[in-house]
Amino acid sequence: MALIQHLILIGPMGAGKSTIGRLLSEQLATAFVDLDRLIEERAGASIAWIFDIEGEEGFRERETQSLEFVLNSPAQIIATGGGCILRAKNREALAASDLIVYLETSIEQQLERTSKDKNRPLLQAGNPEAVLQVMAELRNPLYQQSARFTVDTNAKPPKLVIHEILNFLDEIQNEKLPS
Ligand code: S3P
Repeated sequence: MALIQHLILIGPMGAGKSTIGRLLSEQLATAFVDLDRLIEERAGASIAWIFDIEGEEGFRERETQSLEFVLNSPAQIIATGGGCILRAKNREALAASDLIVYLETSIEQQLERTSKDKNRPLLQAGNPEAVLQVMAELRNPLYQQSARFTVDTNAKPPKLVIHEILNFLDEIQNEKLPS
């Protein structure tokens, strides 16, 4: 199945956006881009360094610029960072795609998947569980508003998550076929 528009994965840190994005890329033989890695390549510096030197605001500006850059590229699978939906400007840019998939996940899963990672500056200070809880309250409604399809990734092997996303793509494609 060839993608005619970007397939965009949104959701919080540790939702599995990069893993699922890579697997979908193999299944659909379509290019995959991880927005955080692109930000690092364009800056020539790690996310941790950007936060350290430029603060969150500097990182968010780079995130908006990199998002604009990928959205203007040919259709591909895009894994966004957990905070990408915070800026209204980003949400408006994302809304041009019908294929925005929200990978919903519990705080417990997030903690399990992010516990050893040192490249997520927002989880380095304070109690990660409390930080994730505050983020979820603010951000979950934004993920929900932005998404065209939501997959609960809790206790689900990546294969099953992929299966659900491929079914969604089939449905969208059938909707778009002339009857
Ligand atoms: C962030 C999530 C990270 C990264 C940055 C900020 C956030 O991406 O963009 O550390 O604000 O939730 P992942 O969701 O890929 O971890």
